[in-house]
Amino acid sequence: MRIDVLSIFPEYLAPLELSLIGKAMTEGVLELSVTDPRSYATDRHRTVDDTPYGGGAGMVMKPEPWAQALESVTAASPSSGQPALVVPSPAGEVFTQEIAYELAEQEHLVFACGRYEGIDERFIEWASDHAVVRPMSLGDYVLNGGEVAVLAMVEAVTRLIPGVIGNPESLAEESHTGGLLEYPVYTKPAVWRERAIPDTLLSGHHGHIARWRRDQQLHRTAQRRPDMIEQLDPAELNTADLSILSEHGFRVINGSLQVCAPDPEDGGGH
Ligand code: ADE
Repeated sequence: MRIDVLSIFPEYLAPLELSLIGKAMTEGVLELSVTDPRSYATDRHRTVDDTPYGGGAGMVMKPEPWAQALESVTAASPSSGQPALVVPSPAGEVFTQEIAYELAEQEHLVFACGRYEGIDERFIEWASDHAVVRPMSLGDYVLNGGEVAVLAMVEAVTRLIPGVIGNPESLAEESHTGGLLEYPVYTKPAVWRERAIPDTLLSGHHGHIARWRRDQQLHRTAQRRPDMIEQLDPAELNTADLSILSEHGFRVINGSLQVCAPDPEDGGGH
């Protein structure tokens, strides 16, 4: 995969050279480079922003330096089709694990990190003739610019590329894969500051351990992310799963999981 990041603060992206991403770059699994649109600004001060038409606070990134920066990276694109252009913005669709998997399939990903109030909208319109544009938000909060969002998205995407993570099995069991949060994990010692690990994990019984982990996933997800439980397909849940969810007030109604008042028969306790 090739990744190009367009940013007027290229130093912000330096951490990408560390850790597993840096290793993937050294090993040639991943090619990553950062282009500064400021190098395409033509005036004496290398201006990349200006005041917004219509008034209002803040500055808007001028379209031309961004267009030239994008042209420079698409001209060298390894992709036979159009590259994906991710534009981090609090006004984008919310980035999820599912989108990370989609982006991990791309041959060429370009990220355009706007700053201040964002990039002139005409750049986004123009860019959609040259790339598949995806405005993308990290979540419902506002950052100072797209760079931090790009660090997070690049890490989430590149770890899914075969060969980047040493043990691909860890991908299968982590949070958000399979629509549930991950179960809690423990390591030695078995008793730490008078806290013992759950007995089941010492039983050596694979079936019991798998069931315990699944129960924990269901409890955790129901407590922390009930919205994720509502997205589950009840046809893919067994009786034990449904019994755990009923402790949290979930019932199957018209083929979907919905919260009702908790069943007092179920006891709860989680
Ligand atoms: N830029 C500013 N805020 C952002 C957010 N929440 N997600 C992505 N990019 C951003």
